[in-house]
Parts: sequence; structure tokens; C-alpha cells
Amino acid sequence: MTDVDELLFNPFEPGFFENPYAQYKKLRDGDPAQEHPLGFWFVSRYEDVSALLRAGLSVEVTNLAESPFEYFAADEDAGALNRSMLDRDPPDHTRLRSLVTKVFTRRAIAALEPKIAGLVDAALDRMAEKGESDLVEELAFPLPFAVISEMLGMPPTDHSRVRELSGTLVRSLEIVADEETARAIMAADAELTAITREVIEWKRHNPADDLLTALIAAEHDGQVLDGDELVAQVVLLYVAGHETTVNLIANGVNALLRNPSQLTLLRDRPDLASNAVEEFLRYDSPVQQTRRVTTSPYAVAGREIPPGTFVLACLGSANRDERFFGPDASELRLDRPEARHQVSFGAGPHHCLGAALARLEGQVAVSRLVQRFPELGFAGKLEWNGRINLRGPSKFPVTVHPTA
Ligand code: HEM
Repeated sequence: MTDVDELLFNPFEPGFFENPYAQYKKLRDGDPAQEHPLGFWFVSRYEDVSALLRAGLSVEVTNLAESPFEYFAADEDAGALNRSMLDRDPPDHTRLRSLVTKVFTRRAIAALEPKIAGLVDAALDRMAEKGESDLVEELAFPLPFAVISEMLGMPPTDHSRVRELSGTLVRSLEIVADEETARAIMAADAELTAITREVIEWKRHNPADDLLTALIAAEHDGQVLDGDELVAQVVLLYVAGHETTVNLIANGVNALLRNPSQLTLLRDRPDLASNAVEEFLRYDSPVQQTRRVTTSPYAVAGREIPPGTFVLACLGSANRDERFFGPDASELRLDRPEARHQVSFGAGPHHCLGAALARLEGQVAVSRLVQRFPELGFAGKLEWNGRINLRGPSKFPVTVHPTA
């Protein structure tokens, strides 16, 4: 029999950041809809996660009977948190999402391919010149950051502060158990909001063919988007546009380097690039969790979640569920046909708006990287970023030359 404590979702368990999947497996097998002592529920099987996301539940924290996030309660007026479409229910969600959907068409994204290929090749040139470098610093971070900055039409300034702030802001997507972290998140939110307001003012005088200009035009329409909402959508796109894809690329390359037969397979069969990215998303998911709030009793895995409850849908666990992906679910298999059913982008009304863009960036970056450097390998120890949700490496030393 398994000890009850062993079955608790506990990201503070030693070794969790290196490998959360052993813990997820125990939860799927032993307590697939867990009522956590910290006041939220944790859902871990594929079918349950998929149904939960499609059920059209609320995402608004105001529907919580008791907030497990008391620290954030005082932050009502400060920044962009809670005003983006990610945190809104219909009708606000429908209105905000439809504005951005117009710009993120499949066609518009596909047209970015030459630009993305150029950015990747420039990064690979730098890596070739250095011999040893950090994959996150050279490729996985700068690529999505440059692409989303250009799509939005951000002014060409030093982005290091924005990077720092968004790295803190995304901690709001985790269960925050201490006041210090909560305060840091609120401060980052306020500063990023202030920077974004300035950028919007600048853009009002420098309109161009970009997403910021299009959103400002929607704000002028009056009914469509108010000033605070405009800021919140820009912050969401800016942050979601790079804090996630960085992990798709880095976790994918990490998985390949640890599975040399799959690395060889991708080199020999470039036609597998698209399925390979689905498998990376499944195997080591860049976003490990998303959340919902119940407004009426919700039945899952033989249990009933009461109304007003915060529910974490564990995408990272669902993607490893043997019940859906088969007995080899914990193995990387780039030709796995079911990989395309991974739930890394969520599902239902909030399904990721940037999925096509992220897939394209991932495919172009990883396939060009492995073709260009047949000797690609680790040049030191990979370090994890220590995030419960947006999981990825913070240090990823690689070499592109033979070591012998
Ligand atoms: C929402 C994952 C890249 C923009 C989401 C959600 C997830 C997710 C899990 C919530 C879905 C739900 O709760 O059902 C990812 C992953 C990415 C990625 C894994 C990269 C590998 C991007 C990019 C952009 C973006 C590149 C924009 C440029 C958004 C937006 C939403 C969203 C705007 C909110 C949609 C809504 O609430 O209706 N994403 N994302 N994402 N994502 Fe992404």
C-alpha cells in the first residue's frame, strides 16, 4: 500500500524540478482527482484533464468561495493580472479573444517562416563561432522573444529588464505559498504594466503595420477594449509569446540529446519535424498546468468538486498518461502518431492562441539545429529553472564540435 503522504502533489519534494513525472504517475494511479490540503484540487489523468478543460468552467478568481491566493486580493488595482483574456469568462473573454484571433490567423503565422528561419540561422552562426555556448541564451530564448516583439511592434530597446520582470510575473501561474514571492510578483506586474503603458503611448505616435497598432485602433472604437484591457492583452501576448516557446525548444533539444536514437531519426527523416514537436510538447510539456474555477458541483474520477473551488489541470501529467498514450508513454518516440493529441496548449474556449506560432518556431529551430550540427552535445550540466509550471532549463551548456 502507498503511504498517504507519498501521494500528495508536492512540488517541494527533492528532485521534483529534475523529474516531476514520477510524482505525477503516483497521483494518476492512486489519487487522480486530489483534494489538496492547500485548498485546490489537482487533476492528473488525460481523459479527466481533457474533459475538464472543454467543460467551459470559469477562470475568474472572483468565483472562488475562499481564495488560496489571499496575497493577491489586495492587488485589484495594480497591474495587468486578472484582466487578460486568460483570466476572463464570457462575454469579456469572447470579445477580447476575437480581437486577437483576427491577427493570429494560420496564414499570417505561416508567412513568418522565412523571418523565423533567418533568426534561427543567425543564432546557429553565433553558436558555430563560439563552439561552446548556452542553448537558452543563444537560441531558445532570443528566437520567440524577437518574433513576438516584432509582431507586436515593440520599440527597439534593451529588453533585459522586461525579461527579468516577465520571469517573475509567470510565477503567478503557480501555487504561491509564500508572501515574499507574492509581493515580488505584484511588483513585477506593476512595473511591467507601467512599461507597457509607456510603449502604448509611444506607439500612438508611431503607428505601423503591427499588432499593437491594431489593438490601439480597437481601443479607439470605444466599446471594444478599454485602456486597462489593452495593457493587459499586450502584457499577456508579450509574456506568453516567449516564456513558453523557450521551454518547447530547450526541453525538446534536451530530450533529443538524452535519446540519441531519436536524434538520429530526426536527422535522417526531416519529414518528422512536425510530429517531433508534438512529441516534445507531450514528453516534457513547456506549460505543466492550467487552471479552472468551479461554479457548480463538478464530477471527476468518481469524486465531486464543490462549487467555488480552484482546480489545477495537470497537462504535464495528462501527456504522460499510459491509459491514453500506451505503456511506453514515458518514452520519447518522434514517430508516435498519438502525439498530436497532447494537451500542452490546453483545450476548449481558452485553447492557446499562439499554438501555430509556437509549433512553427519549434519546428524551424530544432530541425535546423540538428541538421547543422551533427556533433551537438552537452558541454556541462543542465540546470532547471525551478518553476512548477513553466518548466524548462535556465542553463543549457552545449557544444557543436566533437569533444575528442
Ligand atoms: C493560452 C500553452 C505559446 C498566447 C495558453 C494556455 C496554455 C498555453 C496551456 C491555456 C489554455 C487553457 O487553459 O485551456 C502554450 C505553450 C506554448 C504557448 C505550451 C509554447 C510552446 C504561446 C504563444 C503565444 C501564446 C507563442 C502568443 C504569441 C496565448 C494566449 C492565451 C494562451 C493569448 C490565452 C487564450 C485564452 O485565454 O483564450 N497557452 N502557449 N501562447 N496562449 Fe499559449
